[in-house]
Amino acid sequence: MEQFQTYSCDRATLTLADCLDWLAERDPASAQAVVTDPPYGLVEYSTREQAKLRAGRGGVWRIPPSFDGHKRSPLPRFTTLTESDLRQLENFFGRWASSLMRVLVPGAHIVVASNPLVSHILARPLAAAGFERRGEIIRLVTTLRGGDRPKNAHQEFCDVTVMPRSMFEPWLLFRKPLEGRVQDNLRKWRTGALRRISRHQPFGDVIASHPTRPAERALAPHPSLKPQSFMRQIVRAVLPFGEGIVLDPFAGAGSTLAAANALGYESVGIEHDPHYFEIARTAIPALSRLAIPGTPIADEASLFLRDGESLCGSPIRREDSSESQLFALAPNRPR
Ligand SMILES: C[S@@+](CC[C@H](N)C(=O)[O-])C[C@H]1O[C@@H](n2cnc3c(N)ncnc32)[C@H](O)[C@@H]1O
Repeated sequence: MEQFQTYSCDRATLTLADCLDWLAERDPASAQAVVTDPPYGLVEYSTREQAKLRAGRGGVWRIPPSFDGHKRSPLPRFTTLTESDLRQLENFFGRWASSLMRVLVPGAHIVVASNPLVSHILARPLAAAGFERRGEIIRLVTTLRGGDRPKNAHQEFCDVTVMPRSMFEPWLLFRKPLEGRVQDNLRKWRTGALRRISRHQPFGDVIASHPTRPAERALAPHPSLKPQSFMRQIVRAVLPFGEGIVLDPFAGAGSTLAAANALGYESVGIEHDPHYFEIARTAIPALSRLAIPGTPIADEASLFLRDGESLCGSPIRREDSSESQLFALAPNRPR
């Protein structure tokens, strides 16, 4: 394999590379899951747009209005994407999806952050590459997207909103086709299903969340940082036995890798921007050590492990068990 610069921390390895180059060199059937948050504009993470962002000069990045004295983090403006940007994006994700098909084992799950405006741009190429759509995981979070009155006419049309205020983030869920039945795949490849929250509580597809808190942003200054409280729940679910490698091809400041470390999982991340690679080097250890009420870290995770135990003979209850209360998250707290 070509020599890429890497950084390791506990069970996480981060590589500075373009993910398509890296995937092309990776062994077939060598990763058990993907959890990632891709650049939906591609343009927003181009050198030109990143230079504008870092100089505070907008471009595709806009600063949401400040109405309560708090400074907001910049958000990418997906509505500025042209037809040709969209075609370019779909081509890129098409190549990405085919590369993943080769590198993942049968039954591997892919969980990809998205938003309601662009999720189809990623869903189509993943399905076209042969992945099975397995639904979506809804991160309930109130953001500052949408909800505005018409620009420059907000007084005239004070009772309307151009787009709904965004209050959820869809994370697409796909799976590489199984080899045989679910049970065959689980035995052979250790993948094919999602890890339960507890013996009594299955993993669910709606997760209450909150915007990434300032304390985490201070440790990992990346404009698209995802909160550990949410990431740990997703990452934990994608390895049914906690065995194997979770891959994040668009690692950013390393929130997936930090979540994996917190859970004691093995992970590999790829990031092509040296600036974010450097940020991730300090962010991964700091984020993975964060104790976040309501989410597991490796020690707490042992509470959930049921290695060697079997469900046979034990009644499945529908209500939460007391241990699953550890996953009850703080209510939405928009900032
Ligand atoms: C939306 S951000 C992910 C942020 C991440 N969720 C976090 O919490 O830190 C996407 C990241 O992918 C990186 N990226 C974009 N294109 C890439 C490529 N072809 N290969 C590897 N990384 C890429 C960008 O530099 C950016 O840091």
